[in-house]
Amino acid sequence: MTPPIFDATGNRNAGGVGCAACHAAPEFDIDPLTGNNGIIKVLNGTGIDITNTRAPSLRDLVKLNGEPNGPMMHNGNLITLQNVIGHYGNINLALGNTNLDPRLRPNGFGQQLNLSAAEVNALIAFLKTLSGTNIYIDSKWSSPFK
Ligand code: HEC
Repeated sequence: MTPPIFDATGNRNAGGVGCAACHAAPEFDIDPLTGNNGIIKVLNGTGIDITNTRAPSLRDLVKLNGEPNGPMMHNGNLITLQNVIGHYGNINLALGNTNLDPRLRPNGFGQQLNLSAAEVNALIAFLKTLSGTNIYIDSKWSSPFK
């Protein structure tokens, strides 16, 4: 949830990982004003597509057994949550990607999250909590004021 803090060359040296800047709580979906996230390959073809800019919900990425529901991103090129975190951990400034979201290129550099193993595991564990229907049907989540 917390924005990362970067040094002058795009290396995170404090703060959080900032996923919720684009995947906004409570549904962890769609900040309508995003650029792309650096995934610009087309599905089954050549060339690039820099127009996939709507951040999808992070709910139900995995099945109840913790396995991914399917390949992720518009071209399905990331198979595991580790792949996803690896992608965001090391954003590549690809030639021709004039639409990379500015939040992912601090000070003009592709962000380097420099996550520790413990942070990767904690992020995966958190993403796994966003699966299932409990949030919608268990009355304990119905009102923050009770
Ligand atoms: C700058 C905005 C932005 C930030 C920050 C961001 N994302 Fe995304 N995310 C996107 C966009 C845009 C897509 C859609 C990309 C596509 O389909 O090719 C996406 C797609 C995804 C998907 C694929 C979902 C699916 O069902 O295919 C996952 C998983 C994901 N992001 C996780 C994360 C995580 C974890 C973080 C934090 C480390 C994060 N995102 C940070 C914009 C962002």
